[in-house]
Amino acid sequence: MMDDEFSYLFKIILIGDSGVGKTNLFNRLQNKDFQYDTRPTIGVEFINRTVRQEGNLIKCQIWDTAGQEKFRAITSAYYRGAKGVFVCYDVTKQGTYESTLRWMSEIKQYGDPDIVITLVGNKIDLAEQRIVRTDEVSQFCEQNKVGYIETSALNNTNVDLAFNQMVTEIY
Ligand code: GTP
Repeated sequence: MMDDEFSYLFKIILIGDSGVGKTNLFNRLQNKDFQYDTRPTIGVEFINRTVRQEGNLIKCQIWDTAGQEKFRAITSAYYRGAKGVFVCYDVTKQGTYESTLRWMSEIKQYGDPDIVITLVGNKIDLAEQRIVRTDEVSQFCEQNKVGYIETSALNNTNVDLAFNQMVTEIY
């Protein structure tokens, strides 16, 4: 399909600490299976996914970025032209949730002022190990006018929903 058949191009990026599950969420978004032993992402990778919204074809370019500082290339390049960002954390690791503040300030610094932000609490399948509480995060997200969703890449829970809500929000 030619690019000019699309009405819109949405660049959407995944950020967050290393190990929170960005690559597995990214894999689910391209209908790939879950992997128990994914390696840290080096640099950046992207895929295209097409969606239709009110009869318009939208090409979404989804970027998986490296959580580890040493593998991060040029940060400004991730954010350039991005219309949406998923800030991911691991519900079983408090530190990854606390880091979302740092990720948000990076978005403020490099991102478009209108960028749509959604916090993604991943690994909800590990219910017994959960530390970060839903009500705490939802209160924070309401106050800061950002979206919020909880997912499991392992069980493929809410991953498509997160994506579809993001597209609708940007649109
Ligand atoms: P970087 O590439 O270093 O930034 O890490 P990442 O955020 O891409 O994490 P990745 O997807 O590589 O996952 C890290 C580990 O968490 C892997 O062992 C995954 O199998 C595991 N994992 C990812 N998502 C889930 C999930 O939803 N549930 C469970 N139980 N494990 C998960």
